[in-house]
Amino acid sequence: MTKTKKGTFIVFEGIDGTGKSTQIIRLANAFKKMGHDVVVTSEPTEGVFGKKIRALYQNRSMVSTSEELDLFIKDRREHIDTLINPSLRAGKIVLSDRYFLSTAAYQGAAGCSPEAIIACHRFAPDPDLAIIIEVPPQLCIRRITEKRGDQLNDFEQLESLKKVDSIFKQMDLPYLERVDGSVAEEDVHRQVRELIKRLLPHLFHSVSGEHQ
Ligand code: TYD
Repeated sequence: MTKTKKGTFIVFEGIDGTGKSTQIIRLANAFKKMGHDVVVTSEPTEGVFGKKIRALYQNRSMVSTSEELDLFIKDRREHIDTLINPSLRAGKIVLSDRYFLSTAAYQGAAGCSPEAIIACHRFAPDPDLAIIIEVPPQLCIRRITEKRGDQLNDFEQLESLKKVDSIFKQMDLPYLERVDGSVAEEDVHRQVRELIKRLLPHLFHSVSGEHQ
């Protein structure tokens, strides 16, 4: 595991439609107000492998499960080398929308072993905190189709999301915490802040020294 970091690495996890990206933006704004240097990023990335992954959204059967797994891992290696590690070394707060627990849950639901997936991420720095936003799969599907007006892609079908959700629920790791994402956006944000205040209290002292 890479331990060469002095920044703070927080990742958001959960099934599709849980509101991760909204919560990341709110948290990033709060940190920026305190004077922190914040990097917001996400997986799959916009890199070569991320683009290949996006091409699979409407037809996952174009590749085998192990090829799909391989693409997510290659995308992550590139993400870590080009953005995550350099930002952490520079002392920044890195907020990522998805990281390797998504691979354990989604490719786990597709038939790989979640434990083996986590084990093969020894190359990846552990996050300081991983927050799973929990929302019942039925509600997520409703949010995706009604609010976003989107069609469900191959990763988002109800039965698959239920499987992914149950793998996320079974995870137990020292840096892993959960919040209830079925409540109002503002209340989810409050839960996230409380969690960070409790576990990473130093981040709530503004860079100028003021307590938030
Ligand atoms: P998503 O967060 O929806 O990205 P975007 O909004 O940019 O399209 O992720 C896309 C899909 O990829 C989502 O259904 C989860 C899936 N996924 C995996 O199956 N494995 C992984 O390792 C990651 C990072 C995502």
